[in-house]
Amino acid sequence: MSVSPDAPVLFFDSGVGGLSILAPARKLLPNMPVIYAADSAGFPYGTKSEAEVAARVPALLGRLVERYRPRLVVIACNTASTIALSVVRSALEVPVVGTVPAIKPAAEQSRTRVIGVLGTNATVRQPYVDRLAAEHGADCTILRHGSADLVALAEAKLRGEPLDPNVARNALDGLLGQPGGDKMDVVALACTHFPLLLEELTAASPRPLTFVDGGAGIARRIDYLTQGQQWPEACEPGVAVFTRVDENTRALAQSLHNFGLDRIEAL
Ligand code: DGL
Repeated sequence: MSVSPDAPVLFFDSGVGGLSILAPARKLLPNMPVIYAADSAGFPYGTKSEAEVAARVPALLGRLVERYRPRLVVIACNTASTIALSVVRSALEVPVVGTVPAIKPAAEQSRTRVIGVLGTNATVRQPYVDRLAAEHGADCTILRHGSADLVALAEAKLRGEPLDPNVARNALDGLLGQPGGDKMDVVALACTHFPLLLEELTAASPRPLTFVDGGAGIARRIDYLTQGQQWPEACEPGVAVFTRVDENTRALAQSLHNFGLDRIEAL
C-alpha cells in the first residue's frame, strides 16, 4: 500500500530529549511531517524500573499510532529503546526505529580504547548495553554512568531557565573518576537529552573529550526506510503532543518552535 505524502513520522521520548534526534532528521528530510510526542506525565523514565517503562511505552505508542497514523515511529529515547524496542516492534504494524547507545561510533573514534557511556540510570544497567559493548567495543574499557540531574538540566535549558554549571561537571566526574577514567577520550551520549547540552558538557570538560550520539545515524535510517515514499511539497510546522500539558509544557513553546513544532496538543 502506498504511503500518503502527508503521513507523519512520529518521534517519541519521555520529554524534550527526542528533539536531538528530530533535528538531524529534519535537516536530511526538510519536508517530513512531524509529530513529536513526549510522555510528560511519565517523565523521567531513567529512574523508573524496567517493568514500569515496559508497561508504559508500548501502550502509549499504540494510542499515538492510532491517533496520528504515522508512516514510521522513532523511539527517540535510549531508555525506552533499550527496554521496550522489541515489544513495541512486535505490537505495531508500522516500522519502528530505536535509539541505542552510540557505542559503535564511540569505539570507532577512540584512540585510547577507553570510552564512556553517559545515559540514564536505567539505560546504563541494560543488558542491551552489554551486548553493544561486546559487539562493538570488545577491545575497549567501557565506563558507564547514569545521571538523572543531567536529564532535568536539559529540560530546564529548553524552558529557558538559568542552569547550574556544576551539574554537567558532576556527570562527567562520574565517568572520569572511575578506574581508567583518566584515559577516557570519547563519551557516548546515551540519553537523547544530553546532546542538547553539548555546549555545557564541553565547557565542563577538564580536558578535551569527544562526544558522540546517534542522531545522524538515525536520520540516515529514516531516510533509508522511507526511500521511494512521497513527501509534501513544502515544510509544514510540526505538532508536539504531551501526555500532560501544564506550565512546564507551556514554558517550552519557544524551544519547540525553534525545532519546527508550532502546535501543542494533549494526548
Ligand atoms: N531521553 C531519554 C533517554 O534517551 C530519557 C530521559 C528520562 O526520561 O529519564 O534515555
